[in-house]
Amino acid sequence: MLARREDLEALDRSDELRDFRARFDLPPDLVYLDGNSLGPPSRATRERIARAVEDEWGRGLIRSWESAGWISLPQRTGDKIARLIGAGPGEVIAADSTSVNLFKALSIALQANRGRRIVLSERGNFPTDLYIAQGLIAHLGAGHELVLVEGGGLERALQDRGHEVAAAFLTHIDYVSGQVHDMARITAAARAAGATMIWDLAHSAGAVPLTLNACGVDLAVGCGYKYLNGGPGAPAFLYVARELQRGAQPLSGWMGHADPFAFAERYEPAPGIARFLCGTPSVIAMSALDAALDLLLEASMEAIRGKSVALGNAFIELVDRHCAGSGLRLVSPRDGSLRGSQVSYSHPESRAVMGKLIDHGVIGDVRAPDILRFGFAPLYTRYVDVWDAVVRLRDATSRPT
Ligand SMILES: Cc1ncc(COP(=O)(O)O)c(C=O)c1O
Repeated sequence: MLARREDLEALDRSDELRDFRARFDLPPDLVYLDGNSLGPPSRATRERIARAVEDEWGRGLIRSWESAGWISLPQRTGDKIARLIGAGPGEVIAADSTSVNLFKALSIALQANRGRRIVLSERGNFPTDLYIAQGLIAHLGAGHELVLVEGGGLERALQDRGHEVAAAFLTHIDYVSGQVHDMARITAAARAAGATMIWDLAHSAGAVPLTLNACGVDLAVGCGYKYLNGGPGAPAFLYVARELQRGAQPLSGWMGHADPFAFAERYEPAPGIARFLCGTPSVIAMSALDAALDLLLEASMEAIRGKSVALGNAFIELVDRHCAGSGLRLVSPRDGSLRGSQVSYSHPESRAVMGKLIDHGVIGDVRAPDILRFGFAPLYTRYVDVWDAVVRLRDATSRPT
């Protein structure tokens, strides 16, 4: 039982990840529980950005495309992400935004399953994913239809009408509730139906161990700025299983050409993952992401997951005890194995409550209509942060007597 702040201090002392926090420059008196939206910079990231600007850009200038390896950064950074998500080298490229990469992934899937009409997802999936599917379908004008089933209904829909489905897509960890979907089962259901499954790993990469190859995943996309700590607007990533890498993508820019510097008139896609690039990579931003990944890869995903579940469980236990009658209602799974690295509550005055928390040095965020989200990023979130956040949450939700 976590009865006193000292109990959480003891957990911090025995935490195998405790030394990572000092490698981030977090404001000392802030409890930051929003790494599920934007991770903080590490000291190594700051140094890497300085080096990229001063040495590589400032002194190397255009020579750095070769001498500093800028040209292969999307592949090298992608390979680091591959290690975090259970993919092989050459299966992940760091590029563009999650939205743009989903456009590419959906295009590849629709091309692989010509003759099938349905693009399937769930209501409540992250809006950009739905918008991109709507946009692509309208653009193709080929009679595809976006079918949205109720949350939790994708597997069933794949069983019932999978033979009509060209592509199914889902966010692996729900951005509102933090619910984890069963990647192996849902992917298997899509495969059994002959449909292509696309996972959005925005809330999963760097937060939970992933085994894309072992689950037989075809395509996936994800964000660089959340648990990967790549910085605001960091490059995102696209995973394409080897068997699908012969497919074409519609954003056939020169960086995806087999020989960009031949300046040929005719597009010829590069072999392998490079064909999923479009234009020139954003080198400074990619350097920040690359440095952040080096830090993340020093820790094991199992240790990260173990601590993430423990932090979430501690938060829920303390809210149960200290915030009874406050109007908070848990919307995340209580079972840590079904929950990603965030805990969400609904509250009728969610915005006002979060405003008070932020005023008192606890940063989480809100989502419509009434959700408070608290993210736990084990590399820098301490157990005492959980205690301090709950104490302030109790004060922010207690009614004046
Ligand atoms: C599930 C999910 N997908 C995609 C995105 C964002 O995509 P983009 O980086 O293209 O803005 C987010 C952002 O929060 C997200 O939560």
